Amino acid sequence: TAELTILGLESSCDDTGAAVVRLRGNVPEILSNIVIGQAELHEAFGGVVPELAARAHAEKIDIAVEQALDAAGLTLAQVDAVAVTAGPGLIGGVLSGVMCAKGIAAGAGLPLVGVNHLAGHALTPRLTDGLPFPYLMLLVSGGHCQFLIAHGPDRFERLGGTIDDAPGEAFDKCARLLGLPQPGGPSVEKAARNGDPSRFTLPRPLLDRPGCDMSFSGLKTALLRARDGIVAEKGGLTQQDRNDLCAGFQAAVADVLSEKTRRALARYLELQSEAPAIAVAGGVAANTLLRTRLQDVAGEAGTSFVAPPLALCTDNAAMIAWAGLEMFRTGRQSGMDLAARPRWPL
Ligand code: KG4
Ligand code: ZN
Repeated sequence: TAELTILGLESSCDDTGAAVVRLRGNVPEILSNIVIGQAELHEAFGGVVPELAARAHAEKIDIAVEQALDAAGLTLAQVDAVAVTAGPGLIGGVLSGVMCAKGIAAGAGLPLVGVNHLAGHALTPRLTDGLPFPYLMLLVSGGHCQFLIAHGPDRFERLGGTIDDAPGEAFDKCARLLGLPQPGGPSVEKAARNGDPSRFTLPRPLLDRPGCDMSFSGLKTALLRARDGIVAEKGGLTQQDRNDLCAGFQAAVADVLSEKTRRALARYLELQSEAPAIAVAGGVAANTLLRTRLQDVAGEAGTSFVAPPLALCTDNAAMIAWAGLEMFRTGRQSGMDLAARPRWPL
């Protein structure tokens, strides 16, 4: 087909999303991208409460779909297929999305495409920059951290990943320990801007070991100790202390991620002659220091670095619509028995 229009639904964590993406010839266009966040809902609990998230998704997903179609100026009759995140994620939310998508597919007689949320993140650089396969993808979010070689819309080769926490989770914990607002990534980054990264030297876990695996749980323990050290000494934290702790923390995360990216490239080059482009996705890809460091790694290797705009790095439905589009146009679709999968490795 010369033109394909896909409605995408996303509800795997704490953002309810619906979006319409169109491909005309080889040019993709995001016609609408609605995200209804739940930050206030979970704020008091210091983390996403699955039961509350599920209820909010169930309440809001129809509204998101209506808004996405409205904003695109389309009716369901002008859509070619409906794509939905079928996992991995919080089961209640994923179920809400999958049930809604099945209802739309059945009601409007549309094909259904179940999409892996991680594939959505991983394929985003193709939506934003038309990046050709293969490329090296660093997927870093609140729940995930892995290096992938993207070979095709549903062909990913895993080179390594975190053995414990995801970096976004670590940023969130860092913020909590310092009394900064959630989500932690943006607040830590903001505080770090006025901080001295060399005042507290936090560990760089697993850098002494070969391979692309990473670890971030030790970092928060180290941060906790540094914080308690200051509190014991001075009775509390000043804003400068917080800024310096954040800067030290962010530098440690950026060091680990960029050095391991170097190693992932080296691993790829053991078998291939040319360095692949480096791409990043997931919420932590919004981090400016990380972007700068990955740009440097790509520069050293003589290859390009692709980072999607911020709104397409964090959870959104445009990436799901796009991943669904990539699958649909290569002949893949799901049946009405599409299952919601809380765990679904790429
Ligand atoms: O991809 P995402 O929206 O949700 C999933 O985890 O799937 O990522 C959210 C995560 C949160 O942990 C948030 O703290 C982190 O991304 N994040 C950041 C920044 N913006 C968001 N981490 C570091 N620096 C940022 N600027
Ligand atoms: Zn995500």
